[in-house]
Amino acid sequence: MNGPHVIIMQTAAEVADAAAALIDEWIDQDLRDTPDTHVALAGGSTPAATYRAAVTKRRDWDGVHMWLGDERLVAPDHADANVAMIRRELVGPAGVPEGQFHIPDTGMQVDAAAEAYGARITRALPEGPHHIPRFSIVILGVGEDAHIASLFPNAPALAAATVCVGVWDAPKPPPERISLSLPVINAASRRLIIATGAAKSPAVRAALGEPDPASPASMLEPANTTMIVDRAAAQSIS
Ligand code: 6PG
Repeated sequence: MNGPHVIIMQTAAEVADAAAALIDEWIDQDLRDTPDTHVALAGGSTPAATYRAAVTKRRDWDGVHMWLGDERLVAPDHADANVAMIRRELVGPAGVPEGQFHIPDTGMQVDAAAEAYGARITRALPEGPHHIPRFSIVILGVGEDAHIASLFPNAPALAAATVCVGVWDAPKPPPERISLSLPVINAASRRLIIATGAAKSPAVRAALGEPDPASPASMLEPANTTMIVDRAAAQSIS
């Protein structure tokens, strides 16, 4: 089985630069054919450097709609909120209008928040096969346990068929989250996984293995999935 396309860079800084260049190229490709493109952004800490690099590479963000791949159910200005990191590192410095930054309502109960965000995504995005809303790009980090977004190993959320799924018991705090579902992530035109550091090396290896719910990253659609990693994160793959 052809796995994801893996790009190995020497350093985390080079990963950020390469990821930002690829995102910029993909957005240009999209906007040649359509006035709007929809990107799901990763949370956590790894993508921050990529977002900073993207701000320096791209001036015109017209038509680029930004969504959250997952979000913790905390206030938007809470230190743990993915929205806060993305606003700080990308949306603010890039001058992306609020009307193009679609953030979930995290003041709701978990399942209601997931359902409401999923409904907004369904209304706003083009429809792909099987009526699944299609993101142009889904950007993902990966956990040391090979979780992606807020889809954790062997979690019931991995089997969700809804657009967005509620998570009550995330092993990575905070426990309450909403996440794009695996079908939506796999229906995207492109997936980009960014991983740096030796601690991610087992997850990178798992992501290239046979699909296994114990390693959610391995359940990504391999076609049109690109992984950009540094040497440290690549040390357990040949
Ligand atoms: C989250 C993220 C999560 C993250 C990984 C990697 O909300 O926690 O979406 O999936 O991407 O846990 O996190 P780091 O980049 O901080 O290692």
